[in-house]
Amino acid sequence: MGRTISERIVDRLPWLDGLAEKTQPKVQEVIDRGGVTLRNALDGVWIEVPLHPVLTDVPVGSWTAAIALDAVDLVSGSKAARNAADGALAVGVVGGFAAAAVGISDWRYLGGGARRMGIAHGLLNAAGLALNTTSLVLRATGRRNAGRLAFLAGFSINGIGAHLGGELSYNYGLRVNRNVFEQDGPDEYVPVLEESELSETEMRRVEVEGVGVLLSRAQEGKICAIAATCNHFSGPLEEGDREGDTVVCPLHKSRFDLCTGQAIDGPAVFPQSRYHTRVRDGNIEIMATTENVQKRVT
Ligand code: FES
Repeated sequence: MGRTISERIVDRLPWLDGLAEKTQPKVQEVIDRGGVTLRNALDGVWIEVPLHPVLTDVPVGSWTAAIALDAVDLVSGSKAARNAADGALAVGVVGGFAAAAVGISDWRYLGGGARRMGIAHGLLNAAGLALNTTSLVLRATGRRNAGRLAFLAGFSINGIGAHLGGELSYNYGLRVNRNVFEQDGPDEYVPVLEESELSETEMRRVEVEGVGVLLSRAQEGKICAIAATCNHFSGPLEEGDREGDTVVCPLHKSRFDLCTGQAIDGPAVFPQSRYHTRVRDGNIEIMATTENVQKRVT
């Protein structure tokens, strides 16, 4: 398989792997120490979308405005433009630190080429953020031209870093809902298992029209069906632990409601695909929900 230009460059830097190997366990340890509340906050479970791309909009927007305002200041000498440039730069720096913290959290469970690309993305953005923070200090101490140059360099480096972040999503599939690439499931009820074969606490995977479905009985007896493949990184949920009416993914501990598919604990933030169920002639039957069909990408 061919590699992108960024991959070819990053793959020539083997020291990135050494650095990642040393750093990643420490990041994992610090985040784990904060417990499930910290993990869910950083992963974006509370807003039901990954948090890192939301936060990166702050520095991207603010710094773009600051560049334009610096240009206006240079051309016109406008004090208002100068103050606005400094303010926009400062907002971007604050947003940049927040985005960095959340981005490090996203990186904690990556491996192989994605981990390498992730650390390259992080290092470039850290360098850009350091230059932009330096620019603020230079401006505050009266060295405005040096501050403008530092910011220009920082903004450019952040642009390259942002490109690598895009590769992580588009090329490596980081933080995308992997359920949307699966088949929708049957568009009318089809039998999948004899009802007597599903015990009370069991989670049973069945294959239906090319898609894995996880069957279970909720505590009140209702039969539920969600996608058996975790939408985070395709973990096999039938091998996970059942906790009440939820299942914990064996790979990175995302927890989903067995009936609604909702992500209760991250790193997954999207709900699992869900299926209608009914019992006819002693058989459990399932059918795709409209949400599954609407999420189809082709
Ligand atoms: S694959 Fe990562 S939590 Fe399921």
